[in-house]
Amino acid sequence: LGHAVWCARHLIGDEPFAVLLPDDLILAGTPCLKQMIDAYATTGGNMVATMEVAPEATSSYGVLSPSGETGKLVAASSVVEKPKAGTAPSNLAIIGRYILEPGIFDVLENQEKGAGGEIQLTDAINAMASSTPTHGLRFDGQRFDCGQQIGFIEANIAFALERPELRERVREILGSYSKNA
Ligand code: G1P
Repeated sequence: LGHAVWCARHLIGDEPFAVLLPDDLILAGTPCLKQMIDAYATTGGNMVATMEVAPEATSSYGVLSPSGETGKLVAASSVVEKPKAGTAPSNLAIIGRYILEPGIFDVLENQEKGAGGEIQLTDAINAMASSTPTHGLRFDGQRFDCGQQIGFIEANIAFALERPELRERVREILGSYSKNA
């Protein structure tokens, strides 16, 4: 992920920019990124979307080490990518929406390989954390992990049920498969 973002440096130039990981789908009244942009107006720096996950799931995510909370904003003193079981600093996982300072490209340029032998975006955010405000936003909305088959299936159902022209028929179909039907 870190290398992929670095590859886009010529498109971004010298402005803050957003990164969206498309396998994290978020169903929300106000889009998650818009919620973050609104919060970013008061924080600047680097910002990630965050939500609590089960403690045993933290090793699949980037994880925040929180240093304080104001409403839905969590200040992070550091972030760690895919911490080994039992070592996570919290259960606040990074979800795939980021607002990043353009200075991250210079950090990514020299970033060593991290978890999984890959150049990790989380490691670059962490390298900046002592000099750059770093926050997680506990966004409003439902997140679907479409990197998992079951998450992808659930996302299709949830988004279809949001659409008036599909809702009724989808409910009928789901009902026809229910155990009690
Ligand atoms: C990526 C990031 C990780 C983040 C996750 C969210 O991991 O590296 O920090 O928590 O997305 O979905 P991946 O799922 O690509 O392994």
